Amino acid sequence: MTTVSHDWPSYIKRIAECASADALGLIEHELFGRKAGLLTLALKELGSLDADARRTAAMDLNQAKKTLTESIDAKRKELMSPSNDALKETDGIDITMQLPKKERGHLHLIPQFIREVEEVFGRMGFDTMSGPEIESEDMNFNMLNIPAEHPARDAQDTFWISNQQPFDKAQDRPVTSNQKLVLRTHTSPVQIRYMQSHKPPFRAIFPGKVYRKDADATHSPMFHQFEGLMIGKDINLANMKSVMITAIRELIDPNAEFRFRTGYFPFVEPGLEVDMRWQGEESESREGKWLEVVGCGLVHPNVLRNCNIDPEEWQGFAFGFGIERMIMIKHRIPDLRSFYEGDLRFLKQF
Ligand code: DAH
Repeated sequence: MTTVSHDWPSYIKRIAECASADALGLIEHELFGRKAGLLTLALKELGSLDADARRTAAMDLNQAKKTLTESIDAKRKELMSPSNDALKETDGIDITMQLPKKERGHLHLIPQFIREVEEVFGRMGFDTMSGPEIESEDMNFNMLNIPAEHPARDAQDTFWISNQQPFDKAQDRPVTSNQKLVLRTHTSPVQIRYMQSHKPPFRAIFPGKVYRKDADATHSPMFHQFEGLMIGKDINLANMKSVMITAIRELIDPNAEFRFRTGYFPFVEPGLEVDMRWQGEESESREGKWLEVVGCGLVHPNVLRNCNIDPEEWQGFAFGFGIERMIMIKHRIPDLRSFYEGDLRFLKQF
């Protein structure tokens, strides 16, 4: 009987005066603890009362329980609210505190750009594949219609992996072999790999690193290109130009200034080059205000034949973009070497 008539209002007062979530927890335990909670015990005691007394006592107790639960819930809400000073002082956790921002890294602007390239060409239905950076002489040159004695080899200052290109004195020309290795001078050999492993029609791009003995503000011994290839029936130069223009506008700027020129590459016929207007220092570039960004053309029948594709049945175009140069134009970067110096003041801007 004693418990049932506990002084519940005094608990309401204690709850209201509570200064911390811990103190509130103690009161809650005192009242509702499973073994010795005052309310728990009082409810148990109801069983020993006679029917009439039990009915009124039960009503009182339930009312008390409801009021106490509600005031505990309300107090807890108040104590947990971010504007509560007591929380900061007593629980040692201030959920409103402004922590210093954690520095998060991000992709370097080259891989970032390659992802954009994959997305833009992906929307035009192009697949993506990569090839090895160490290539055979065969893949890097011969299969692309650039035999050993071809002057076009001189334009690509090659890093040969085996020390010297053997020379056939009797024939008065360098020896060609499948075994000789080079650091690939362009991504074009991936065209060959793709054509050898897929049946036309297809369209794909091949991004990656390439290497040449070359270094100034617009040339680096390692740089990035992405190659592209589209083979089908009745694919023509107009299709190629429209893909080139779409890519440039989407990747650089809808109002980008560019021009098509004829160009020579042994693996295409006819061949074109695309120059873009560049804001860099004129004196720093071999090309002045225009920077060559793309080489492209209709795939040479010899190259198709080398990959067992019948040029009477299938035609198409190929292209190679210089990635650093595109980014230099896009972001008005004057010197290609900034990409590789790892200077955070530069890298963080992108
Ligand atoms: N491989 C050439 C280079 O690195 C670029 C190129 C030109 C790629 C014409 C092509 C092409 O696919 O059709 O200079």
